[in-house]
Amino acid sequence: MATDTANAPRPMGGPWGFKIAGVGAALPEKILTNEDLTAWMDTTDEWIRERTGIEERRIGGSTSGLSTEAAQLALADAGVEASDIDQVILATTSPDHICPGTAPAVARELGILAGAFDLQAACSGWVYGLVMANGLLLQGMDRILVIGAESLDRITDYHDRGTGILFGNGAGAAVVERAEPGHGELLSWDLGSNGNYVHILYADHGGVLQMDGKEVFRQAVTVMQRSATASMDKAGLTADDIDLVIPHQANVRIVESAWKKLGFSMDKTAMVLARTGNTSAASIPLALDDARRAGRISDGDIVMFLGFGAGMTWASAIVRWAE
Ligand code: UT7
Repeated sequence: MATDTANAPRPMGGPWGFKIAGVGAALPEKILTNEDLTAWMDTTDEWIRERTGIEERRIGGSTSGLSTEAAQLALADAGVEASDIDQVILATTSPDHICPGTAPAVARELGILAGAFDLQAACSGWVYGLVMANGLLLQGMDRILVIGAESLDRITDYHDRGTGILFGNGAGAAVVERAEPGHGELLSWDLGSNGNYVHILYADHGGVLQMDGKEVFRQAVTVMQRSATASMDKAGLTADDIDLVIPHQANVRIVESAWKKLGFSMDKTAMVLARTGNTSAASIPLALDDARRAGRISDGDIVMFLGFGAGMTWASAIVRWAE
């Protein structure tokens, strides 16, 4: 069993590859359309589409349930067993309980006996998890399950025009594993935060999400531009070298604004926002799963993950994809 060997000493510092060997996604069945919202909110389908790019979002399910479903698909996609996983990292802003973390319950459902912990970096969480996974590979682990999952309907007021139009539930998961050196690789990453902006997006215990939408928008564009540039600089790459960008799915106008300075095109961008709304930590792996299933990622492709979220936090990572 992989967990028996995970802690065995390994020579450090040698070359090691990084491969996303399998991905999976899960959305609850219940759809909440823009039209549905107009029944109790002073809004229109047209306004929401134009100002956000969102057409519908999903509600229902639980963070642990959606995580388990997405993870099972990721394990099957990678062709590995639960016993092959050395660690579970679950990025979430909406855990099942304040305590304990949701990851141990997900590990139990999957039959994984390895370590399991929650990671709270809001919408940047899954990319933080990816970078942590790379560190664990360096520490000697072989295979890590990185999940991003949310049941944001538990902390969203669907009567609030500022937030109720945006958020939804979902989960995405990836199996990250050691690859042949020189094959798959985490080329560069950039993680950051600025706690001066804690107050622009938060939820108190027992409360719902509170947001200064305009300020979040402004900050998001800035930090996405900065973080993407930092990761590209570290890897010695330019926008032309990136085959696909998978950004946090919050508002299509945020992505379009950030792309102007970065020189990215929407053609090379993975988007699922219209169908999912903003699913925070789940949004990037959901878009990854969709892009992969659509055949948009091939062996050797340079893929950038780019997130921002409450905190403010931000995260980017550039991967040379390996099949
Ligand atoms: O994961 C990170 C989480 N959050 C985000 O990324 C959110 C970032 N911010 C946003 O996406 C946008 O700020 C919102 C979509 C939340 C709001 O869009 P906006 O373009 O910033 O709208 P606004 O608040 O400036 O409002 C513009 C107008 C106002 O009317 P007047 O004063 O111009 O007559 C609002 O009353 O639109 C009105 N409005 C709405 N109308 C219909 C605001 N919300 C709505 C609504 N439906 N839901």
